[in-house]
Amino acid sequence: MNDTVLVVDFGAQYAQLIARRVREAHVYSEIVPSTISAHEVRERSPGALILSGGPESVYAVPAPTLDPAIYELGVPILGICYGAQLMAQQLGGRVANTGVGEYGRTELTRCGASALMADWPPTVTTWMSHGDAIAEVPAGFVVTATSPEAPVAAMEDVERRLHAVQFHPEVAHTLRGQELLTTFLHHVAGIAPTWTNTSIIEDQVDRIRAQVGDGRVLCALSGGVDSAVAAALVTKAVGSQLTCVFVDTGLMRKDEGEQIEATFTRQFGVELVHVKAEDRFFEGLAGVVDPEAKRKIIGELFIREFETVARELAEDGEGPRFLVQGTLYPDVIESGTSQAANIKSHHNVGGLPEDIAFELVEPLRALFKDEVRHVGEELGLPAEIVWRHPFPGPGLGVRVIGEVTRERVAILRNADHVVVDEIKKAGLYRELWQSFAVLPAVRTVGVMGDGRTYAYPIVIRAVTSDDAMTADWARLPYDVIERIANRLIREVEGVNRVALDVTSKPPGTIEWE
Ligand code: XMP
Repeated sequence: MNDTVLVVDFGAQYAQLIARRVREAHVYSEIVPSTISAHEVRERSPGALILSGGPESVYAVPAPTLDPAIYELGVPILGICYGAQLMAQQLGGRVANTGVGEYGRTELTRCGASALMADWPPTVTTWMSHGDAIAEVPAGFVVTATSPEAPVAAMEDVERRLHAVQFHPEVAHTLRGQELLTTFLHHVAGIAPTWTNTSIIEDQVDRIRAQVGDGRVLCALSGGVDSAVAAALVTKAVGSQLTCVFVDTGLMRKDEGEQIEATFTRQFGVELVHVKAEDRFFEGLAGVVDPEAKRKIIGELFIREFETVARELAEDGEGPRFLVQGTLYPDVIESGTSQAANIKSHHNVGGLPEDIAFELVEPLRALFKDEVRHVGEELGLPAEIVWRHPFPGPGLGVRVIGEVTRERVAILRNADHVVVDEIKKAGLYRELWQSFAVLPAVRTVGVMGDGRTYAYPIVIRAVTSDDAMTADWARLPYDVIERIANRLIREVEGVNRVALDVTSKPPGTIEWE
């Protein structure tokens, strides 16, 4: 047995959340498809399995199911929602469609002893989302909790270490949900809480050393948290073999270039090639209005700049063979499963130039964004980099709506700084997924002093989100909006009007282009 927990994904949005909660309990987790066989599970020898919720009914045709031989492996299993019902049905219990489901906060009533809820009070608020409900438990199981519409809200077979809950312990609205997961992992499954920032760093440093040997490594820094943390990990592992490249596209946020330079050159002592390429980017973008065209141009120019550096480095001896990429775990999961339509062509700074043969080093491949941030802090990266909001690869180029010119980008950069500065001063920065300014390239009439103005509007965009797949517009306090608006008009020349974007995703996207 090893310490990995496999989260079996039954197609709900909750599998990633469960995997993150498991890791918050300092246990490493991975998401696997529900088609995994008992043989594959045995090969991987996990410390426990968690069956996620899912959007289907166990009676849907075809309903996703689980290889029943998995229950016989002796691996501790926790079934959640759909996973609980499936466990009940597959082991000989009964699931009924009662016609009345439970959605949202639901009171749970405990009954009898329970390995997972030993110290819980008689009633606890949980979060539920189900139409069907377990009506009869399989042989060997006992009911440990009920709710108004679920006669079996929790059940267990302690001997076989099989546990199931109808509610969602991974959701913050379930009081004591994290405690239930921790109890399952540490006490029922007996997995030691050894997955920590320190262990992640040590493990990755060993892997990077093993992969690259004494080879030279190249890393593109974007100013964003992912590439910075990936580079910091590689620095710790093989710093003297690393060359970082920072392509200044002219489309970065305020002070981004200086911060990168200060951190990597002065603090970490890494070799950094700082390419000042803004002239070429503005030239390439002249006259271009279509968002996809802009994205393609910026992506291609970036690769061209990067290739030039790689070629120059190759000329002074043997060029770098390895390229660092800040790929995260959600990208790995999604590229394995996603059939999503191409809404926008994303470009990741540091994207692999197709015709240069590099071997990839991806030290963040197993990590979620919040873990990346904590690892970054532990590696000594400054808070401004580690906690900075995500930023699209094409940068301010897709936040000027219309043609990208130097003048507009300069206005937008200053405006963006004001928005973020006020949000930080209000103590809201870490609560938000992103907050920034957008400049639609239209001009409107205003009056300032005695004179008429004809200048750009700035749109404030602030969203909350867990993973950027969906997002809600942030309800910023009026006084914060007012301070931002006043400062934008007073301090940022070229702006005479401020608007607030109140579109969620869907139907909007977070960025405007
Ligand atoms: P949308 O606008 O599609 O954005 O809701 C979702 C998240 O992705 C970021 N984004 C990008 N990130 N390259 C990136 O690395 C890109 O081309 C890109 N476009 C959008 C966006 O900021 C948000 O966090």
